Amino acid sequence: MFVATGKTSEPSTFSSVQWSPLCRHFEFHEILSATENFAEALVIGRGGFGKVYKGNIVINNGSKLVVVCAIKRLDSMSNQGASEFWAEVEMLSKLRHCHLVSLIGYCNYETEMILVYDYMPHGSLEDHLHKFGTPLSWCQRLKVCIGAARGLDYLHTGTGIEFGIIHRDVKTSNILLDESWAAKVSDFGLSKITPRNQPSTYVTTVVKGTFGYIDPNYFATGKLTRKSDVYVFGVVLLEVLCRKRAVDKSFEWGIASWVRDSIKEGRLKDIVDSDMRSEVSPNCLNQFARIAERCLDNHPNNRPTMAEVVLCLEYVLTLQEKNDNVLQSAGKTIFGRMVDKFFFTDNGQKSGMDFGSLVPKKPNLEAKSENQLREIIDDQVLEEASDEQLEAVCYVACRCLDMRSEDMPSMKEVTMELERIRKLSIHHVASQDNDNKMSSLMLESEQD
Ligand SMILES: Nc1ncnc2c1ncn2[C@@H]1O[C@H](COP(=O)(O)OP(=O)(O)OP(=O)(O)O)[C@@H](O)[C@H]1O
Ligand SMILES: [Mg+2]
Repeated sequence: MFVATGKTSEPSTFSSVQWSPLCRHFEFHEILSATENFAEALVIGRGGFGKVYKGNIVINNGSKLVVVCAIKRLDSMSNQGASEFWAEVEMLSKLRHCHLVSLIGYCNYETEMILVYDYMPHGSLEDHLHKFGTPLSWCQRLKVCIGAARGLDYLHTGTGIEFGIIHRDVKTSNILLDESWAAKVSDFGLSKITPRNQPSTYVTTVVKGTFGYIDPNYFATGKLTRKSDVYVFGVVLLEVLCRKRAVDKSFEWGIASWVRDSIKEGRLKDIVDSDMRSEVSPNCLNQFARIAERCLDNHPNNRPTMAEVVLCLEYVLTLQEKNDNVLQSAGKTIFGRMVDKFFFTDNGQKSGMDFGSLVPKKPNLEAKSENQLREIIDDQVLEEASDEQLEAVCYVACRCLDMRSEDMPSMKEVTMELERIRKLSIHHVASQDNDNKMSSLMLESEQD
């Protein structure tokens, strides 16, 4: 049975589990002081359970240890209640993982039901994708997905207790982000415990979850398996890729069928969030879409496990990082071919010279940089290349070396641009030849 030090003793929703709670019970006056009597100014969010406040709570009276926390208070009008509250306390008391949000404690006083969590300074993934329009790079998004997938995999198979856990309410608002943007899965109020090591085992329940995120198979049969979480995670992957909500007025049947139709019509690239479209390598895009599609398979048995999803996403991230490194190397190579007297180290620094000052922000090199550039360029290149070519090549190289991967060109763009510059070279040589011919003609006529 769940052992709590609270004033009320509650029936356990998971009576067969031996709980040893890691979180503590807070007195109501401690919550009042942490939230300044539930001051509106401290409200940081609002969900189906009630309002969420940012507060400072004393967790050790002796040492006066104060931590910043998120305090969720059950709203009397909420359609959630005691069962979700105790489910959350019992689940999170038992679980600790770097990709699950930690429950610091709870308070159950008269009709008040209050949960105290670690405060996540970057809020929820939903906030950034759909409310604030935060620029999130492709690699950053992949890392968030990998973190959330690891959290879910831990729930499904790695809890160390006798049972696996089905989250049942996976969605972007339940993926929180810590100070270094690492993902933390939250909200276990709807979670269910299931026997582990038997992927086909299901729990029959009243269908619960959030509209737009429910596995159609679970909806039709009422049979809940870990593969229902996998389905919903597929929806999250598509939201992250397209920056569209699971249910949006631009499509009729939800994001999954919209993406499926777009892929069939050969428009996968077009539906990627335009803010990061240029960053995503085509191979990574296909692999990512494939993982999402597999998660969203109508037949639960065809869906991957969360462990497989983690591996596949890690593979996509590695591919993308390799691709970005190739681009960076291409930039260094382009400079390297032009500048034979120096070599560049990995961080773009060059012995005795400030490489950063050479990197133009715009196509036009600043005069100062141009002078510096001319000093270090290989004499033979200087002799053969026109100013226009030098400037254009530098610009391509600098774009490849850009610190922000979203500003990097694709290798295709690099190739096309270098081709264009090479053609300039042919014209340059031709016009140089013409100049030479003209001057020798003039010389000949002078001699005549
Ligand atoms: N631990 C936390 N740290 C920081 N912000 C949080 C924390 N928990 C919740 N929030 C903020 O509060 C908002 C509401 O969270 P809450 O979990 O109550 O509802 P929800 O997940 O948005 O919706 P629902 O209740 O339908 O699941 C979140 O979107 C987030 O911005
Ligand atoms: Mg939530």
